[in-house]
Amino acid sequence: MSVIFGVFLLPLAVATNFPYTIPTRWNGGVAANICAIPDVKLCGWEMKLVFSVNVVSITSRDFLLTQPQSNRSVYYVKNQPCNAERSAGQELCIGFNADVPGSSPVEISKLVFTKTSSDGQPCPATESVAYADVLAKSILFYEAQRSGHLPSTNRIPWRADSALSDGSDNNRDLTGGWYDAGDNVKFNFPMAWSTTTLAWGLIQFKAGYQAAGELTNVYDSLRWPLDYLLKCWDSDHNEYWAQVGDGHADHSQWTRPENMTSARPSYKVTIYSPGSDVTGETAAAFAAASIAFRSEDQGYSSRLLRNARSLYDFAYNNRGTYTNSVPAGDFYNSWSGFKDELCWAAAWLYKATGETVYEQRAMELISYNDQVEFSWDNKNVGCQLLMYEANPSDDSLKARVENFVNRYRSSVTKTPTCGLTWHASWGSLRYSANAALIAMVAADVGIEKTLYRQWALSQIDYMLGANEAGRSYVIGYGNHPPQRPHHRASSCSSDLSQPCNWNDFNNPGPNQNVLTGALVGGPDNEGNYADIRSDYVRNEVACDYNAGFQSVLAGMTDLHFLSANIGTFRTIVIGKNFLYLCDQSTYF
Ligand SMILES: *[C@@H]1O[C@H](CO)[C@@H](O)[C@H](O)[C@H]1NC(C)=O
Repeated sequence: MSVIFGVFLLPLAVATNFPYTIPTRWNGGVAANICAIPDVKLCGWEMKLVFSVNVVSITSRDFLLTQPQSNRSVYYVKNQPCNAERSAGQELCIGFNADVPGSSPVEISKLVFTKTSSDGQPCPATESVAYADVLAKSILFYEAQRSGHLPSTNRIPWRADSALSDGSDNNRDLTGGWYDAGDNVKFNFPMAWSTTTLAWGLIQFKAGYQAAGELTNVYDSLRWPLDYLLKCWDSDHNEYWAQVGDGHADHSQWTRPENMTSARPSYKVTIYSPGSDVTGETAAAFAAASIAFRSEDQGYSSRLLRNARSLYDFAYNNRGTYTNSVPAGDFYNSWSGFKDELCWAAAWLYKATGETVYEQRAMELISYNDQVEFSWDNKNVGCQLLMYEANPSDDSLKARVENFVNRYRSSVTKTPTCGLTWHASWGSLRYSANAALIAMVAADVGIEKTLYRQWALSQIDYMLGANEAGRSYVIGYGNHPPQRPHHRASSCSSDLSQPCNWNDFNNPGPNQNVLTGALVGGPDNEGNYADIRSDYVRNEVACDYNAGFQSVLAGMTDLHFLSANIGTFRTIVIGKNFLYLCDQSTYF
């Protein structure tokens, strides 16, 4: 690959000739947008901005400062990971705000681009993104969330047995499962959705797990919540245990699971106090997992399917909202109602059995409305997609799936520079990851293969580092990852004899243990994010955040190994690394 690195002074066809006068000026500040058309291909750029006055500070979403902020007249800046490339003749616009005292005119006397490639040549890869590596790390995150008696194979050195009496208040063994997020409650509703969604990823992208060498780990990982959820369903007595731990009491303490002292009450739904949402979702998890485990462990797969059938009947015949009897309303209220879970579970049972009764139930409960979110709460688009897969001649269902993905691709709010499609503030990244999973599966089913995969790739790349801040949003991975997630166990000492309390919460330093593989909440709609432990909106982690994300990573890993043969992607290294190039023109 012939690449020329050097310093080029490029003619600026759109911007005025230098000196360039900043167009918007008010007392104390300036705002500028400099556009240039490079006459050679850019593979990343650096600029030297020479101002006619001292600038107190400068901020931009389009570049990164390569030296500390200070009162100076010369600033060196470089491209964001996502706007590194420009073809010859393709306009590059760079906006910024600067803090300048007084109101006299400000001029920039110099703009220098560096890092070019000769025309027509591909740019060298600028960053290595290892999808398979992040996939492996995401599985480790779920391992860190384990409750109960840990096996000797536990890979998280700072975790130990915990909550070994869960269920004892009702004379049951409800040990096991995953702690929900940065807290220590076991909320079955999101836990079950995460399990279903991870099973979906394993069914759809098994080759990706295989290519990454993570097949054994992912099966092991999925058994953990499944074994717990099986304990929760008592088909002899028609009771389903839907939660262990009290959200308010748990959240009032900051402690690691190994040292919890507050009571761990367990709560159930019954035919008298039903919960079709949480039982429907759990039936979906059993049915999906029965497919995923079919080739792996026939006995386990049959047991899962048997329980999926009986639990689905319980959910379908006893309609109700679980938060009427289980105190989860302040945490995981089923805002979308329970029809979506009953539809989604029926669709999974239909996929698992091929029996028309489940097809009929799914189609009786399906929504023909366009959906805006795929999440622990709302699974309507998941049901639409599964039923479209089962009935490819149903154009109306196809349109629902297309409208869902196209809305994310086009009209959903995007963060300013790098185009994260941003749906909601609390845990913004998971909504993009979840939508990316819908896009990836839709592509597999035959809808807009290239476009949908490219869009899904752009969202995952954003999370891994191609973003405004040039940082990774995955703990323990990539450039400048989060170090202070809102997560009790990882914030405290790995020496369990040391206390774990609000002092650890208030400690301004990094968490004492690295919660490897966890995707944090993510930025606001302007791309703003701060690595602060108290910020549970943008800097918490959760089982549901990683579920869609991990499944897309499996798909990406699969595609990149495939692409070695079909040549779709530009650079490929067989092994664990895929080299990627963030280029907005490729994505949007
Ligand atoms: C926390 O729990 C562990 C494991 O049971 C125990 O060894 C340790 O002493 C406890 N630490 C504190 C501070 O109570």
